[in-house]
Parts: sequence; C-alpha cells; structure tokens
Amino acid sequence: MRTYLVTGGAGFIGSNYIHYMFGKYDNEIRIINVDALTYAGNLENLKSIEDRENYTFIKADICDKDTISRVFQENDIDRVVHFAAESHVDRSIVNPEVFVQTNVLGTAVMLNCAKAAWELPDGSYKADKRFLHVSTDEVYGSLEEDGGYFYETTPYAPHSPYSASKASSDMLVKAYMDTYHFPANITNCSNNYGPYQFPEKLIPLIINNALQGKKLPVYGDGKNVRDWLYVEDHAKAIDMVQEKGRLFETYNVGGHNEKQNIEIIHIILETLQEMLAEDDPRKALVSEDLITYVEDRKGHDRRYAIAPDKIREEIGWEPETMFKEGIRRTIQWFFEHEDWMKNVTSGDYQKYYSEMYKV
Ligand code: NAD
Ligand code: TYD
Repeated sequence: MRTYLVTGGAGFIGSNYIHYMFGKYDNEIRIINVDALTYAGNLENLKSIEDRENYTFIKADICDKDTISRVFQENDIDRVVHFAAESHVDRSIVNPEVFVQTNVLGTAVMLNCAKAAWELPDGSYKADKRFLHVSTDEVYGSLEEDGGYFYETTPYAPHSPYSASKASSDMLVKAYMDTYHFPANITNCSNNYGPYQFPEKLIPLIINNALQGKKLPVYGDGKNVRDWLYVEDHAKAIDMVQEKGRLFETYNVGGHNEKQNIEIIHIILETLQEMLAEDDPRKALVSEDLITYVEDRKGHDRRYAIAPDKIREEIGWEPETMFKEGIRRTIQWFFEHEDWMKNVTSGDYQKYYSEMYKV
C-alpha cells in the first residue's frame, strides 16, 4: 500500500485533494496529513474521512525539523504532496516574514527530510519515491492585457511577497533536483475555486458577502484577469503528474478560463439569482448595487494566463469543469454548508481541533 505524506491537507486545495484521493483509491493508499492549523487550516474540511483507518492527522509545523524527520523515520513515505504554505497575497503585503518562514524555510525542511529518508549511500534514491511541490502561476509575474501565456519556460518574475516566496521555494526544489537528482516535480497552477475555500479569496468572499447584502469590494478598476480552475481538476492534475509525469519536470496547470474580476462578480450575482428560490429572503439582498470599487492592491498583477499544453500533450490532463458548471457546484456547496461558512467567519472552527482532539 502506497503511503502519501500530504502537507497543508487541512487547507482549501489540500483537503479537496485528500477527498479526491480517497474517492479514487479508497483503501489502496494511506494518507498522513501534516498541518499546523493556521487560520487557514480547518479540520472540519476533513470530517467525513477523519475516522478512516488509512488516514492519520498530525498537527505540526513544516518548519519543525525534528517532527518532520520523525514522520519520515516512522513511516515509509512513498509520495510527498507539499501544499502547506501561506497563500494569501493581501496578507503577504501586510506581513511578509511568515511567508518566507513557511514557504521558503518550511519547503527547505521538507526537502531535507525527504532526501535524508530516501537517499541511498551511493547517492541514488530508493525506488519509486516522489516529491511534488505545489506552486502557483504567480511566480511568472504579470502578463500584458492583450496577449501571451505563461509557459514552463517563462522566466520567473514574481512581484508580491507571496509570489516571491513561492518562487524561492520552487528554486529550492529545482536546486535539489539539479544538485542531488532528488526525485521531484513542480506544478504551477492558476487560481483555484470550489468547496472549502476560505472566504478571504475573491470567489467565496463575493458569494458570502452577496448572500448577506454586504458590499462587494473590487480592487482598482476590476479589470485584472485571473485564469480560474475548479479545484477538483487541480487535484486530478496533481495525481496525474505524480503517476505519469516525467521526474524533474515542471508542469503548468490551468483552466483556459480567463476572466476579469468584475466579470466573475457579475457571473456570481447572476448565478445566485438563478439558484435562489423565489421565497428565499436572501434573493432580495443579492444585487449589483453591492459592487463597490475600493483602493487597488499594492503591486497588483494585471493578468495571469496559463498555457497547459505540456500537461495535456505529455500526460493527457485537461480541465474538465466548465466555469458555469463549477461556479454552480461551488455555490450549491456553500448553500449546503452554511454552518461551515458561519464557523469560518466567526473563527469557531479553531475550537474544533481542541474539542475534537481534547487539547
Ligand atoms: P490555504 O491557505 O487554504 O491552506 C494552507 C494550509 O497550509 C492550511 O491548512 C494551513 O494550516 C497549512 N499551513 C500553513 N502554514 C503551515 C506550516 N508552517 N506548517 C504546516 N502547515 C501549514 O492554501 P491553498 O489555497 O489550499 O493552497 C495550497 C497550496 O497551493 C499552496 O502552496 C499555494 O501556494 C498553492 N496554490 C494555490 C492556488 C489557489 O488558487 N489557492 C493556486 C495555485 C497554487
Ligand atoms: P485572490 O482571490 O486574492 O487571488 P490572487 O490574488 O492570488 O489572484 O484575488 C483574485 C483577484 O481578485 C485579484 O486580482 C484581486 C481581486 N480581489 C478583489 O478585487 N477584491 C477582493 O476582495 C479580493 C479578495 C480580491
């Protein structure tokens, strides 16, 4: 049975990935989830799988060398899928240090511990071990409005402290591959959306605010472009890269779904109107009048767009969920998980861990 070490599995993409993997492999795999449970980590995301015998949660910081190396010593890890990171650009502008700490130094700890556990005395590695570093398209910087895409060969040009820290972590992974022949891959993915996304990011924030009749803050002129991918498609891409990708390669993952922020907001408002029942009191609250232009984000990247040609040609991965369908599924999920949203916005989810684990 193959053993996965997933870092950051209590976050948005990590928890979706764990659900995807158990849905696909059921009892054929074992997953160990290491997460520090920062404000972004929420064990409620994993409630439905937490009692599985082939799942273990360990509350730990990836910067804690002793604990991470113990996890490798005590378990024969076959696959590392490294999600754990500080992930919000706005927070990185206010407090960059923690991004360097977790994203750069934490990745260094993960690489070192995996290398120590997998390397043989002659410098080769135990068979069939793989490390996947989950990264972002933001490392490539910003594109012009009128054209161009990010390719795997696009030079790195990060602007925000978040993207600079992710670029640094990617460089460390590349250095381990080049210097030690360390068995790894990097994926650089575009913006994700879907269930369990923390409502500080654009899509869940707009859904949550609109349903409460709260203002919908649009940074700058609202014409910045992001390339949106449904999170389950990202989870599938990660699995396919680990199983079918060539070692030492980078794969860009994207949805070919570029939209201006203001378009996203209009689509959400229209979809909410379509989906809410006539007698639902929230229907009257959802309105274009809530759109409020606010001060632009500092250093705001204008446009991101991924060319996912390599992953399609080499691995056969393609985005499957059209945006219209994905946004409906996301909104439906938020309708069905009102308590999740209430707990997250009130901070109550942080109590869940202490109640659940009696600490
Ligand atoms: P998230 O903020 O929702 O989750 C991050 C998780 O990491 C949380 O569970 C948190 O508790 C954990 N964590 C943070 N610091 C930690 C530490 N020091 N030790 C252990 N755990 C720690 O993030 P996300 O949106 O799920 O993103 C996951 C990964 O995917 C990140 O590496 C991010 O850079 C990358 N990514 C995100 C997107 C996106 O659109 N969200 C797109 C491309 C790539
Ligand atoms: P975000 O979800 O923070 O992702 P990222 O910055 O990693 O792309 O933001 C997506 C886009 O939406 C980005 O251009 C900033 C913009 N934005 C707003 O206009 N208003 C908001 O309240 C937020 C959170 C983001």
